[in-house]
Amino acid sequence: MKHSISTIVAAFAFATSTSYAMPGLLYPEHHTWSPPTDSDVRSPCPCLNSLSNHGFLPHSGRNLTMDKLIKAFKEGVNLGPDATTFAGGLAMKSNPIPNATWFDLDMLDQHNFPIEHDGSLSRADAYFGNNHDFSPEVWGAYMARLEGHEIISIELASKARAEHVYAQSLINPEFFLNEDLLGDSLLETALLISIFGDPALGNAKKSWIESFFRNERFPVSEGWEPRADEANLTTATAMIGKLQASLPEGVPILFGNQPE
Ligand code: HEM
Ligand SMILES: *[C@@H]1O[C@H](CO)[C@@H](O)[C@H](O)[C@H]1NC(C)=O
Ligand SMILES: *[C@@H]1O[C@H](CO)[C@@H](O)[C@H](O)[C@H]1NC(C)=O
Ligand SMILES: *[C@@H]1O[C@H](CO)[C@@H](O)[C@H](O)[C@H]1NC(C)=O
Repeated sequence: MKHSISTIVAAFAFATSTSYAMPGLLYPEHHTWSPPTDSDVRSPCPCLNSLSNHGFLPHSGRNLTMDKLIKAFKEGVNLGPDATTFAGGLAMKSNPIPNATWFDLDMLDQHNFPIEHDGSLSRADAYFGNNHDFSPEVWGAYMARLEGHEIISIELASKARAEHVYAQSLINPEFFLNEDLLGDSLLETALLISIFGDPALGNAKKSWIESFFRNERFPVSEGWEPRADEANLTTATAMIGKLQASLPEGVPILFGNQPE
């Protein structure tokens, strides 16, 4: 099943839009954060996990439907319905029941399909036995590439991601990243710097991202709030294009035996 974002990238011109001041959206749910209980399930995605911890999504992490996802991503991080429908549609494929219209967060652990991939920023590769939980070691290796920067530009995000992925590939003899999975990885970085920065310009605040990954909690107490201008499929696609344009030279981007 072909879902490469590059096919979508081709359909859009690069957006260069203005950014707006953050107006202080109503955000009461951030007060209700609580960590997962033993019976709750979580995913390898820091954003889905945070939305569940804050109660935008069911705290159980189970039975997520498209309606619930669209509402949670809009209210929680101001992600538009088109982007949530795209990513949520992929996520449904992780449910072993064919054509399911819901999924549980832990179904997303499935390796190399539909979204999970090697070379994550904060999780070890499946080869090492746990692609699910936050890994301080893997995250530390990624953060070291951002040393000396408070703000993560598009160029820095692109370079750090590509170099981190390459470094991970050198320690995993089964490392694999095809075009679809590369598209997933780029989309994740695009959304990250959109939501903690600007959906057109990136420039995300590193301390917010650090806190978000470590705690799976939106850094409201550190001054973050959802932006007024949403991130959506148009902005994310343009952002992926800019990340691709900033890939460092001489660093491999696809790994493993690729189909013709
Ligand atoms: C319906 C929407 C979404 C779905 C289904 C989804 C699903 C996933 C999955 C399955 C992964 C694991 C990939 C891997 O590293 O192997 C992932 C990673 C990630 N997601 Fe999401 N995601 C969604 C929305 C978002 C949003 C809005 C953000 C914005 C902050 C985000 C940020 C990330 C980041 C940064 C990673 C990479 C984590 C890492 O490399 O350690 N996701 N997502
Ligand atoms: C909710 O999820 C469980 C598995 O976590 C599943 O057995 C059940 O059928 C789901 N219920 C609905 C209404 O989708
Ligand atoms: C799933 O959807 C496809 C395409 O819409 C259809 O051909 C197939 O029969 C469906 N499978 C089940 C088990 O419902
Ligand atoms: C996507 O977001 C941009 C910037 O926030 C906005 O200008 C545009 O109208 C949105 N597009 C759609 C289809 O909602």
